[in-house]
Amino acid sequence: EAGALWGGRFAGGPAPELARLSKSTQFDWQLAEYDIRGSRAHARALAAAGYLSEHELSGMLAALDALEAAVVDGRFTPAETDEDVHSALERGLIEIAGPELGGKLRAGRSRNDQIATLIRMLLRDHAQQIGALVIDLIDALGAQAEAHADAIMPGRTHLQHAQPVLLAHHLLAHCWPLVRDLERLVDWGRRADFSPYGSGALAGNTLGLDASLVATHLGFGHVVENSIDGTASRDLTAEFAYITAQLGIDLSRLAEEIILWNTREFGFVTLDDAYSTGSSIMPQKKNPDIAELARGKSGRLIGNLAGLLTTLKGLPLAYNRDLQEDKEPVFDSIETLEVLLPAFTGMVATLTFHTDRMAELAPQGFSLATDVAEWLVKRHVAFRDAHEITGSLVKYAEDHDLELQDVPDAALHAISAHLTPEVREVLTITGSVASRDGHGGTAPVRVAEQRAALVDRVRTL
Ligand code: ARG
Repeated sequence: EAGALWGGRFAGGPAPELARLSKSTQFDWQLAEYDIRGSRAHARALAAAGYLSEHELSGMLAALDALEAAVVDGRFTPAETDEDVHSALERGLIEIAGPELGGKLRAGRSRNDQIATLIRMLLRDHAQQIGALVIDLIDALGAQAEAHADAIMPGRTHLQHAQPVLLAHHLLAHCWPLVRDLERLVDWGRRADFSPYGSGALAGNTLGLDASLVATHLGFGHVVENSIDGTASRDLTAEFAYITAQLGIDLSRLAEEIILWNTREFGFVTLDDAYSTGSSIMPQKKNPDIAELARGKSGRLIGNLAGLLTTLKGLPLAYNRDLQEDKEPVFDSIETLEVLLPAFTGMVATLTFHTDRMAELAPQGFSLATDVAEWLVKRHVAFRDAHEITGSLVKYAEDHDLELQDVPDAALHAISAHLTPEVREVLTITGSVASRDGHGGTAPVRVAEQRAALVDRVRTL
């Protein structure tokens, strides 16, 4: 039976229906180079333990190099009869090194410890790549914040006008969750720094192989402490999927705002032509497809996490074939983010902000009412009364179709003797924003500090 790793005790090959179900090369082939790196390290461990002579080791390493070259340039690909990446590569090795030498490499390892190691290696590489793409997005948001350092927009709660804020403050508010996602990736990387190689099928190996030698060669700082855990756990894969889902959600929340800002009703932004799409029937359309795809793909990222967790739930120790289902969801999440993030960053970097429109809307909807109440507090009116007085002022303005600053002196006085005309000094959006100068507040000085703190936090990751 060509390629099968387990023919000895079987009367014949697998039924074609089983072979078709069992096959994983269509997705696990992307682990091929990791598999070969693992094989190189394993060959060294076998040699160190006396199972390969120096001569055999160099023959094996040369054969693995040749195999890798053939994989990289596409001369060697999985055959119809190869079950998975491991069987395909063993077939390839034997084709190059012959059955005598090629057949020795499998000693002391199992596909179970191999696959558990390879997926960690792949995830570690993509954690780096995704992290770099997230930093690009943070930089793009930071650059927009810096380019519009004085712009003021309506800050919202419940999507209603609440209090004016700096646009920069709002944009930086989208950066911090991304910074925490980066920190999550780094923190995940600490837990993923343990190599399962040497765990064997589940119970360890009898050959006295030096697992730390393998770990070092593969760039891991440590070896797993428990061979059952090493082969059967996939919490690290699930955690990685969670981080990608969280990233998706963080992008989606910004995406939703960009979609709103881009409507005629808001008119806060214009999308660059290169980062927006047209309609096949309506010639006037310019659509925020990148933002919509980000919002949509966050559902897919959450689905991948939910699917993986569901596969793991109730799975007994140790390895079960169910675990083969760990790969497609997380591979898909990686691909999704690595395609989405550069497009999203391009959209953000090229957004035009209409700061006049934002500033015009910022004081509307009585968004300066809190400033009035706090002005009264500074004049030693109890906040409870200040809230009441300001509420009456808002009601008056609403009833008379006025903005707060346009309520006449006499009306102010009629509402409360505390409401002198000087109150109008705080009824400007610049005054309002500047006065929120506590740590983390929207005052320009604080936002400038915040930006510096953000840059620092990313630098020290
Ligand atoms: N292809 C399997 C996986 O992805 C690894 C092979 C383990 N197979 C087995 N029958 N023990 O999980």
